[in-house]
Amino acid sequence: MSEMELRPGLADVPVAESAISFIDGKRARLEYRGIAAETLAKESSFEETTWLLLKGDLPTQKELAEFNHDLRSRRKLKYKLIDLIKSLPENGHPMDALQSSVSALGMFYPSRDVGNYANNWEATLRLTASLPTLVAAFSRIRNGDEAIEPREDLDHAANFYYMMFGKEPSAATRKVLDACLILHAEHNMNASTFTARVTGSTLANPYSVVSAAVGSLSGPLHGGANEEVLGMLDAIGTKANVQSWLENAIATKAKIMGFGHRVYKVKDPRATVLQELAENMFAETGRPAKYEVAIELERVANGLLGPKGIYPNVDFFSGVVYQSLGIPTDLFTPIFAVARVAGWLAHWLEQLKNNRIYRPEQVFVGKTNVDYIPLEKRP
Ligand code: SDX
Repeated sequence: MSEMELRPGLADVPVAESAISFIDGKRARLEYRGIAAETLAKESSFEETTWLLLKGDLPTQKELAEFNHDLRSRRKLKYKLIDLIKSLPENGHPMDALQSSVSALGMFYPSRDVGNYANNWEATLRLTASLPTLVAAFSRIRNGDEAIEPREDLDHAANFYYMMFGKEPSAATRKVLDACLILHAEHNMNASTFTARVTGSTLANPYSVVSAAVGSLSGPLHGGANEEVLGMLDAIGTKANVQSWLENAIATKAKIMGFGHRVYKVKDPRATVLQELAENMFAETGRPAKYEVAIELERVANGLLGPKGIYPNVDFFSGVVYQSLGIPTDLFTPIFAVARVAGWLAHWLEQLKNNRIYRPEQVFVGKTNVDYIPLEKRP
């Protein structure tokens, strides 16, 4: 038997050196290039935060102006790509549409020369700028509507909302969406970022890197949890049902969506900020019943799961916020991808500076030296 120690899920196994984000799981601290993520969510913009993640420092005014122009001029999709999106099954999941259309996008903009920084920066701009357009286009086309062309006079969050709904967001809605994009932009070695790194380590092109990461993010244990949380809150129904529902879920060893984290053993700091955003939004409109159920679930879960270090994570409140913005439930995870593309690309660019292909080991538990039995001698 091998003396190598198995590390399921690579828990606590450092696989790379990185300077992009830092997480203190005990003190509920998340920093992007040293700056607290919640500060960026309140003070910065998704564009400025994306530059920070990609380049390592906040942009100068000139850099930010040029970056905004470079992104806005790369939002529009080729008509043949719109035609491809029109050919996708309208009842397919938007994450599958996104993964397919990201790969197809790369066919219009060859980017295989990943040893060339200019090539990589161009792909970084195109991917960051185009993901909102891809998500919004499928969302409308599947409903029988025409895709709405991007506008260059709106910022990233406002233009994304405009392409989804055909109207500009209010200042408050724009701010909430922009803050959500910032909070979801980066989270060091999560599964989809690790997927991006593994794919990038083979020197695959950046569109393949992002397409692979989209696939990884779509799983319900990762980015797909935000959509599952809404279904869970619907299943619970009322505050009065929470205690019995949770006791039953724990007894049957079900995973409570939106709870738990490999790194945070306290409440995810992003959940705290998202909850503040929700409270601010509901200050005028009143709390929706689903949010009341979520609050009660957190209260009861703190007693039953808290002692195991299981608390709300980023996905617990994000769905409630998105739903109150009128965003369809199955677009919650694509929005996560629109934000996390910044982190995926930052890790991809960082890794290329000192790349080595990932090839871990295994602990072999199968049979060896087995003879081949010809078919005629088998039963
Ligand atoms: C994201 O990695 C990142 O940074 C991800 C992310 C990012 O920004 O990229 O933060 C985004 O993916 C947030 C997580 C969204 N997923 C969910 O909300 C799904 C529910 N959560 C769980 O599946 C789980 O907490 C994970 C997947 C998030 C973490 O899994 P781990 O670290 O592998 O923990 P585990 O499954 O080994 O659980 C350890 C123990 C187990 O109990 P025992 O078998 O030891 O008795 O804790 C229990 C688990 O059963 N547990 C839960 C639970 N999470 C952990 N029990 C019930 N409900 C849960 N949610």
